[in-house]
Amino acid sequence: MPLAHVHKAVLPVAGLGTRFLPATRNVPKEMLPLVDRPCLDYVAAEAVAAGIEELVLVTAEGKEAVEAWFRPAPHLEAALERLGRSDLLDEVRRVAAQVRVRTVLQTEARGLGHAVLTARPLVGDEPFAVLLADDVIVSEQPAIGQLLDAWRDSGGAMVALQRVPPEETSRYGICSGTIEQNRMRVTGLVEKPEPARAPSNVAVVGRYVLPPEVFDLLERTPPGRGGEIQLTDALAVLAGRGAVQGLLFEGERFDTGTPLGLLEATLHLALRRPDLAPGLRRILAELPPV
Ligand code: G1P
Repeated sequence: MPLAHVHKAVLPVAGLGTRFLPATRNVPKEMLPLVDRPCLDYVAAEAVAAGIEELVLVTAEGKEAVEAWFRPAPHLEAALERLGRSDLLDEVRRVAAQVRVRTVLQTEARGLGHAVLTARPLVGDEPFAVLLADDVIVSEQPAIGQLLDAWRDSGGAMVALQRVPPEETSRYGICSGTIEQNRMRVTGLVEKPEPARAPSNVAVVGRYVLPPEVFDLLERTPPGRGGEIQLTDALAVLAGRGAVQGLLFEGERFDTGTPLGLLEATLHLALRRPDLAPGLRRILAELPPV
């Protein structure tokens, strides 16, 4: 039986962004620019390119700019039209025009699992995607599209996987299981284990395709690592039932959730831009030695 189409993607964007204070005092971290586009826009564009029709933003008080990003900007658009800048006009309208956006407020910071559960009323009883805006992935085929293709064969839950240096396991959900080619049959997941306790160095990065059953599991998931309700813990239950697979996807992933990661991503993406690369290379070459 062919599986249902995935129409909706949940984007948890309620985090405080403490790592970027004071910038995030009144600019949500998802709106910080990677060169000249907010991180959020890369991730939203990825979802749209993979055929997602509706974004469910799980947001928080003070993060109105995230929602506003998807609204029309009539004043700006009229001004750009007067200036004859149709090139910029397209950039400004691009993603927002192609996708329906709904928001739900997460009133308490209780973790990623809780954020996903908060989206339940807007997702309903259908499979859905989750994209974490901190993980920006540059790839030929959108990463979430790769996951959706793999999921269409297997059903259940499909998570994006990447091998990480063994000393970095405490930053990720880590999987155990058997790998064949680029697929992992996931038998267990553990949230941010210390290297000595990590079952492998295969890490979950922020792209998931999830069945609606995950909501019931999240309802019953007690606080885990960091006192938060972890999506990883609910997925571990699903994995115990043989319903989780992973895809070692193709693409380069940047962790824009830390200042150093955002800098790294900025440099990499700018070096791929013909209008910026020569100037940036010159600046880098002329940096004084430290
Ligand atoms: C979250 C998840 C973690 C996953 C990571 C990917 O952690 O809890 O399992 O590996 O995203 O980026 P966070 O980075 O939000 O702390």
